[in-house]
Amino acid sequence: MHVPLLDLKLQYATLQAELEVAVLKVMRETRYILGPEVSELEAALVKYTGARHAIACSSGSDALLLALLALDIGAGDEVITTPFTFFATAGAIARLGAKPVFVDIDRATFNINPAHISAKITRRTKALLPVHLYGQCADMDALLEFGLPVVEDAAQAIGARCRPQPGWATVSDRALNPTEGLKANNANLQSPSVPCDWRSAGTMGTIGTFSFFPTKNLGGAGDGGALTTNDDRLAARLRALRVHGSERRYYHDEVGLNGRLDTLQAAVLLVKFRHLDAWTAARQRNADRYTDRLRRISQLQTPISAHTSFHVYNQYTIRTAHRDALREYLTQAGIGSEVYYPVPLHLQKCFAALGHKPGDFPEAERAAAEVVSLPIFPELTGLQIDYVAETVAKFVKSV
Ligand SMILES: Cc1ncc(COP(=O)(O)O)c(C=O)c1O
Repeated sequence: MHVPLLDLKLQYATLQAELEVAVLKVMRETRYILGPEVSELEAALVKYTGARHAIACSSGSDALLLALLALDIGAGDEVITTPFTFFATAGAIARLGAKPVFVDIDRATFNINPAHISAKITRRTKALLPVHLYGQCADMDALLEFGLPVVEDAAQAIGARCRPQPGWATVSDRALNPTEGLKANNANLQSPSVPCDWRSAGTMGTIGTFSFFPTKNLGGAGDGGALTTNDDRLAARLRALRVHGSERRYYHDEVGLNGRLDTLQAAVLLVKFRHLDAWTAARQRNADRYTDRLRRISQLQTPISAHTSFHVYNQYTIRTAHRDALREYLTQAGIGSEVYYPVPLHLQKCFAALGHKPGDFPEAERAAAEVVSLPIFPELTGLQIDYVAETVAKFVKSV
């Protein structure tokens, strides 16, 4: 059996007719730049996330740049973030001349550990930049307590949610099935248009950033991204920054960038948006099936989803001390896998000037050595999941 890490052709096959109509419409109407589909997508994002404003942009990386620009972050400033994320998170901080200040992650969730943040706050700290890694929200309540602006990197987490206040689901509600307890409390989640009192990723902090890179839960046919905010002034500024800092064409109040989303991408994303909740539910079902089959294997750690969190599983990531050998075994068995991410950012060559060394962030370093993500895309069959789980189990027995 062959189980790829991701098979976008399967998704395309189910959407081909809708997508081709939508794309052809844009081609024929020729409103390629900020055409009506872009505003429609923004309206859909507002409805889906519950944010007051959504601003579509060219990528998740540019969304981060725009967010930091809108918060006036630049040379001499410090932004606290996680070392265990895709490069763009810290890259955006550095690109603006500011300093990424890393804080180690929580062992269970892989997200930034708020307990280590106060020691890193200085007079220069301008913002916190947590990442909702793999599709699970960082501990936003703890992060918001610092009273600093928070940019949520929700690139991997569209549709992820946190509960509004303590006392809802309990850990035991969800002990057997990481999403069941939440679903029971949360029937509304199946409809993107129905407001839900669980807070959406990207709407809890000052600005949220999203990526529509093709591998994301909502992925375009190329690059794309978006920002969300509840602040009217920031929304207006983000809109201007996205077109070289101009609210009025050829009049530039500040220096921005060309950060627009193409109308063609918006048209593709609008079609896919209609399927997002069903895809998320399929990802969660797939995750539950893996966890059911793998959680008793003591040499493995299956994903730990906090009981306060609605995890959307952009990745299903397990950890094992024998990660590289497991990957090799999976490849031999025709199973795709990937390591997100093999090198924590504090050890990247381009950040050598920050002066970090191995051992500075032990949890991030351990995660980088132990994690591996298994196929989790919505179209996977139960048989494929069982085959992957059996192969993992067989490997563990062999070591
Ligand atoms: C956590 C995180 N931040 C930012 C980005 C950047 O998004 P994009 O690839 O759309 O520029 C990604 C994309 O992989 C990501 O996973």
